[in-house]
Parts: sequence; C-alpha cells; structure tokens
Amino acid sequence: MPHRGSFITIERHIADQEHLHLYATGAFSRLLRDLMLAIRVISREVRRAGLVDIFGTTGEENVHGERVRKLDVFSNETIIRAMRYGGHLCGMASEESEGLIPIPENVAKGSYVLLFDPLDGSSNIDINVTIGTIFSIYRRVSPDIDRLGDMNDLIQPGYRQVAAGYALYGSSTVLVYTTGNGVDMFTYDPTLGEFLLSNSTIRIPERGGYYSINEGNSSYWHEGMANYISHLKEIDPETNRPYSQRYIGTAVADVHRTLMYGGIFLYPGDKKSPNGKLRLMYEVNPLAMLIEQAGGVAIDGRNRVLDLVPETLHERSPLVCGSPANVEEALSFIEEDPVGEEVSENQSSPS
Ligand code: AHG
Ligand code: MN
Ligand code: MN
Repeated sequence: MPHRGSFITIERHIADQEHLHLYATGAFSRLLRDLMLAIRVISREVRRAGLVDIFGTTGEENVHGERVRKLDVFSNETIIRAMRYGGHLCGMASEESEGLIPIPENVAKGSYVLLFDPLDGSSNIDINVTIGTIFSIYRRVSPDIDRLGDMNDLIQPGYRQVAAGYALYGSSTVLVYTTGNGVDMFTYDPTLGEFLLSNSTIRIPERGGYYSINEGNSSYWHEGMANYISHLKEIDPETNRPYSQRYIGTAVADVHRTLMYGGIFLYPGDKKSPNGKLRLMYEVNPLAMLIEQAGGVAIDGRNRVLDLVPETLHERSPLVCGSPANVEEALSFIEEDPVGEEVSENQSSPS
C-alpha cells in the first residue's frame, strides 16, 4: 500500500491519470465518474436490501430465460439512468437487455460504449453473500460521432477494451479498475461517500495455493480438466499440495480473491456446456483484462481470452485465469487431453 497515510479519492485519481489515456479529452474521465455514481447508488441499495422487502424475483425472465431478481433490475436501470445522459456514450449493452441500449435522441452521442453485468452472483443476493457489478468500455468503431452506435461498436475483441473493472459489494464495497496502466483498488467509505485508494498497481502472485471451480460439474469435465484438479488434490509437501478449494459462486468475487491471493479460477467448457457459463462481453473479457493488467493470465482453456473474436453480444466463453504459474500448469494438463475439443450433443446449457 504505497499511499499509506494519504487520502486519494477516486476523483483525484481519475484526474491524475487522465494524461495516461490515449485520447485525453476529459470525456473518458467524466464517463468513469458517472459510472462511480451508479455504483454508489447500487451499493447503497445492496446494503439496504437486507433491511427492506426488496428481495425475491420480479416474476420476469431476462433475455437468457433466467429468473431476474429485483436488485438485478434495479442495478440495470441505475446504470442506464446514470450513463444515458452524460454525452460520453453512443450505446450500451447489459446482461439484462437483449440488444443495444440506445442513447436518447436529444442527447449528444459520445465516443465510447459501455457493456456491463449490472449484478453478478444473483443466486447470492438473498443470502447476504458477496455480489458485484462488472463493466467493460470500448471506443466506438463506427465513424459518425453524432450518430447512435451499432452492434459493431459493442461486439469488439477484448484486447480493444480501454477500461474494465468491477465493484464488489462485500464486507466493504470495493472498486477495482484498469485503464490499461495497471490495476488499482478503492474502498468505499459510506460516511464520506468517497472511494479511497486502498491498493495501487496490484500484482497477482506468481503462484497461489487456491483453486476455484464448481466441482459439481466434474462428471461433465474433459479428461485433462479432471486430471488437473486431481493433481491439485494430491499430497506433495514440496509443491504445497493439496491446494485449498474456494468457490463463492459469484464469478467477480472468486476472481477478486484470485487476483489478491493468487491461484486459479476456472469456469471451463465441458461435455455438457462447451462454452462454460460466463458471458464473454461483460464478464469474461473485463475480468481477463484486469487479470492480465495485474500480471496474470486469462485463457478460454487454450487461447488468450482477449484475442477471441466475438460474434454475438451474449455469447458464452470458458474462462481459466489467475496466477501465471497456475494457469500454465492447468494448460499443460488440458493440452495433454486428446478429446478436450470434443463437442457435446447438448450445446445449450441451462443457466
Ligand atoms: P449472474 O448472476 O450475473 O447471472 O452470474 C452468475 C454466474 C457467475 O457469477 C458465477 O460464477 C456463476 O454464475 C456460478 O455458476 P454455477 O452455479 O454454475 O457454479
Ligand atoms: Mn454475471
Ligand atoms: Mn448478472
């Protein structure tokens, strides 16, 4: 913690970092500030959710046929409302909305697009277990600055992200983000209403002793994955095995722990769900950018996540990410598996 003894608010940090941005017009900084406001509002509501009767489902389904809980809807609307009128965006996309979320006609269209998972870990909402918000920002590729963006602006490969981050509503609310110059973390002080810099230039440990995967899916795993996880459970004091297993079931929280403590997080493709469960554009890509910016590795099981070329807004991608030594070891097991590419009969997976 290099800033011990000094208070650096996120506002100050964004302003200080502005010169590092490729296109330092100030619009990008204002965009980030608007997003922080949305996150403060969601954090307040998440904190209150245990006290008021906000829990339960709305009875509606989102575009993936999943049950939508009230806080998901609230968070989605909050981000849209906070970002729609800023003049920085030409469009948005969310896990909870089918297509491009437009910017109103009478509002200026900006140079960026925002993709987000408004609330990640919705199965944990009812039970006070950590949930989060994930976001990903790109520059528009369509040339007409005064026009609404289109699908080409939204569906870009992850290496083109100009910023990515998440908020985690845990024992504290923390905000972790990168603009391509390392990863910084801020902790929210609700009495001040400020995010204060708590860790700058986070580096993921070279190797860690935790692995994080839904072992309930092990019957569907390919052989390489099964062999890798068995390897982690063997007794070998020299390599500190067995490793400890940790799984919250909120991807952003599991990846956050992996970022801070090291180790590996996996939501792999398997015989039942070849592309795993997580969504490429607003879960896998932003988490992969953060992990890489902290010195880690993020692959889809074989290839670098950020090089994947997306085809649709809501497509899924496997994710294997974490400390470089752990991911390399996982890859060596996966590559040995001759049937690892096998495609299942049942390609569509339930959520
Ligand atoms: P969301 O709540 O945004 O739909 O995402 C839930 C995801 C992710 O957060 C988590 O890692 C995963 O679901 C857990 O899935 P399993 O229950 O299959 O392990
Ligand atoms: Mn999610
Ligand atoms: Mn979600």
